[in-house]
Amino acid sequence: MERKQFLKTLGAGAAFALTFPCVHGCSKDEAPTGNIVEEPTGVDFTIDLTSSEAANLASNGGFILKNLVVVVKNLEGEYIAASQVCSHQAYDQVRFVNQDGGIFYCDVHGSRFEQNGTPLNQVDGNPAKVLKVYNIELTGDMLRVFE
Ligand code: FES
Repeated sequence: MERKQFLKTLGAGAAFALTFPCVHGCSKDEAPTGNIVEEPTGVDFTIDLTSSEAANLASNGGFILKNLVVVVKNLEGEYIAASQVCSHQAYDQVRFVNQDGGIFYCDVHGSRFEQNGTPLNQVDGNPAKVLKVYNIELTGDMLRVFE
């Protein structure tokens, strides 16, 4: 069966859905996952890198979520940290992803940020805001994350 004939058998609606699955952006019309939360203030905590909570920081590209902060061991093996609260609409969905050398990404509307928090894109035509990043201090196996 040829493609045209196949689409005809499905009907116009199904054919449109198959042909143009993301006309308005795949996730924009769906209910976003995550919650809108307040940006944390006074961030200052320590992670024991030998503890089980830090297991995902053993490998480059790994990250953990703690106190609304994404703590990352980037692809070069350096520790970095940024807010889990997106600078776009405050959803708590910022994560570290292995794209373009490692970036922060929020899947609610697709905001992307450099590791220093600089926005890489605009998601709704407005100027994108910087993602908050935190200081890191490594003393032995103790990793301090603070403002
Ligand atoms: S809330 Fe993160 S991209 Fe919109």
